[in-house]
Amino acid sequence: MGRRKPKLDTDACYQAFLRITQSLNSPLPLRQSLHLALRSAAKAIGVSGCGLVILDTTKKHLLHVSSYGLGDWYVKKGLLDVDKSIGDVLSGQPVTIIDAAIDPKVQYGDEAKRAGITSMLGMPLKSKDEVIGALRAYSHEKKKFNRAEIAFFSAVADACAVAVENTRMAERLDECRGQPMGSVVASNESQAAASELRRPAQFAHPSEEEFARLLDFYRIDWLYEPRSFPLQWEQDRVAEMFTPDFYLPDLDQYIELTTMKQSLATDKNRKVRLLRQLYPGVKVMLLNRSGFARLLAKYGIGLRGETKVVRVLISTPQIQRKVKALGRKISRDYAGKNLVLVGVLKGVIPFMSDLMRSISLPLATDFMAVSYYSEESPQVRITKDLDIDISGQDVLMVEDIVDTGLTLHYVLEHLRERKPASLRVCAMLDKRVRRLTEVDLDYVGFEIPDEFVVGYGLDYIGEYRNLPFVGVLSPKEKSDTEDETPRQDHKTKGPE
Ligand code: IMP
Ligand code: MG
Repeated sequence: MGRRKPKLDTDACYQAFLRITQSLNSPLPLRQSLHLALRSAAKAIGVSGCGLVILDTTKKHLLHVSSYGLGDWYVKKGLLDVDKSIGDVLSGQPVTIIDAAIDPKVQYGDEAKRAGITSMLGMPLKSKDEVIGALRAYSHEKKKFNRAEIAFFSAVADACAVAVENTRMAERLDECRGQPMGSVVASNESQAAASELRRPAQFAHPSEEEFARLLDFYRIDWLYEPRSFPLQWEQDRVAEMFTPDFYLPDLDQYIELTTMKQSLATDKNRKVRLLRQLYPGVKVMLLNRSGFARLLAKYGIGLRGETKVVRVLISTPQIQRKVKALGRKISRDYAGKNLVLVGVLKGVIPFMSDLMRSISLPLATDFMAVSYYSEESPQVRITKDLDIDISGQDVLMVEDIVDTGLTLHYVLEHLRERKPASLRVCAMLDKRVRRLTEVDLDYVGFEIPDEFVVGYGLDYIGEYRNLPFVGVLSPKEKSDTEDETPRQDHKTKGPE
């Protein structure tokens, strides 16, 4: 018979609970107040660590929010799948695990063993009747949690749940404030919005924060550094590991920003190559400094100062031939259908106007406008919706350029809700190498390389839309020596 554990000391428990509610009610950011609460809870029930996870918006994963006493490596061991990681907790019941290394309810048994974790207690985190996540206690020693400990931990979970819900509520209120009444954005879309719960206390680099803002703008769900991939082991110690900056759950895509010094980038490239070898199922994408700068440049960020068109990429005759060919193909494909061309203002105007005149079918046109990424606007919004009802119609979305694909992804979701008979996409330009989200393009004019282009509707901070060709834009300083530059006098040259 094992040594009897002393019962929980009621007075000590009360003191601990007092500290917990004081922490949760403090003006500290949620993660920090949770950390203090988890520390008090761990000490009160005599465990080495505690962690709090919440369900993500897809309800498929559990996200780490805060922890005490767990190594950074253990916290980032990988995504927690709802059905594999002590999933029973989500039915609303506490779950105890005596030996984490062998219990099938534990998703990362090997990792738990390496971290010296033996027993665990999982407690549902409930908001009213709904389970929103779990609170977990981790013990180095083999431990059978008694009724008093479980009851105490349950009270801690309730207090934490109230704190989490409070933060979410405050965020929702904040969002509503930024939106006009009667805005076309449905309220449930705010689910994927910026959330303190996912936002790390500190980003390692300002570009990461900017990137997170960009993803928030397009309502793309993201996690910051959720997983560290061990690249080399020395016995039980991780000798080398790699933690990609972002994970986009909807796309199952990791993104690593390499916006810092070139010397560091080389090592990163090596690690990414190794990661791809060791974990072939894992999708990782590198976004380097110039790629990121160009991403922001299209919103007029960073590439400030004077710019000029340095080169014609696609000449006016090339555009004309291509548009005619697209028009012929669309006319064949849509014969006998109810074709509606939908464009997003303003870049699409020249392309739409040329394309519609090369389609030899009856058709309708309509336009939408969306807000663009800037410091003031936290989320993409439809600022002008369609005038006509597209339900049952064959909608062809006409786009000037598809770059990251984030705008199109958002607009297509919006159009799909209107139940068109069919929905396809025709893009004049496709900057495929920069895609961050998968979108199917049914008709493409030209695939172009990763360069910032203007003309034929495309602008740089409102300028250059009226060029009849597509040209490459660069900061002026770099290209001052070139004097063959076509200027805004519309002198068209062939591509070089
Ligand atoms: P996406 O959401 O990244 O696919 O961006 C789509 C929008 O960004 C386009 O409709 C354009 O308004 C703008 N854009 C993307 N690349 C360029 C470019 O090279 N020049 C000008 N505008 C661009
Ligand atoms: Mg556009």
